[in-house]
Amino acid sequence: MTTAEAQFVDFGGLRVEYDARVLTPRPWTAAQSRWAAELIRTAPPGPVLELCAGAGHIGLLAVTLAPRPLVCVDLDPVACGFLRKNAALAGIEVDVRQGPMDEVVAAGEEFPVIVADPPWVRTEEVGTFPEDPVTAIDGGRDGLDLARTCLAVIDRHLAIDGSALLQVGPLDQAQRIRDLVEHYDELDVVEVRDYERGALVRIDRVVPEAA
Ligand SMILES: C[S@@+](CC[C@H](N)C(=O)[O-])C[C@H]1O[C@@H](n2cnc3c(N)ncnc32)[C@H](O)[C@@H]1O
Repeated sequence: MTTAEAQFVDFGGLRVEYDARVLTPRPWTAAQSRWAAELIRTAPPGPVLELCAGAGHIGLLAVTLAPRPLVCVDLDPVACGFLRKNAALAGIEVDVRQGPMDEVVAAGEEFPVIVADPPWVRTEEVGTFPEDPVTAIDGGRDGLDLARTCLAVIDRHLAIDGSALLQVGPLDQAQRIRDLVEHYDELDVVEVRDYERGALVRIDRVVPEAA
């Protein structure tokens, strides 16, 4: 059996190890870590949850900038292996949960900040990125299958007054997320930030006042 060659990248000052079996860390996504760190500083107490963590660098950088306990979820055992190594390199203890995100977070667990980076490439465009593992990027017909699952997990596990940062691709996906969030009584899209290679959507849990 051949193994892919390990590579290292500097991600906002963190040394991150990965190889060709997982998505290569994208420098722009440090913006998601920095925004999450801003939110963590004023969020209610509790751990941070990272969904679709891959090699873990987005969540690790966030809690390096604004320390909190971190729970990371990814389906892929190889990604979880790198996550554990990268957490050790950063000197951060992480609760790594390997499995489908809608199965590995227990009922009743709540998080004041959730960071999510699901696959968001439309299936018909996956071939445009031959260097990327399909499971890391294939978001289904409209690219939002896994983002929908993230929303369901966010709805179940985001604490009151908490915030989630969901990464999507083109800006029209962010608009679609706004539409989908309308179906959740206690979730609101409060801000969208657009970057050259993707967009970040901030979703807050706001409990409606009793009449
Ligand atoms: C776009 S990649 C992001 C990885 C990492 N955050 C990064 O920036 O490189 C999406 C990740 O979601 C994971 N994933 C796909 N489906 C999942 C699911 N149902 N539950 C949990 N993780 C999933 C993939 O294994 C992959 O690591």
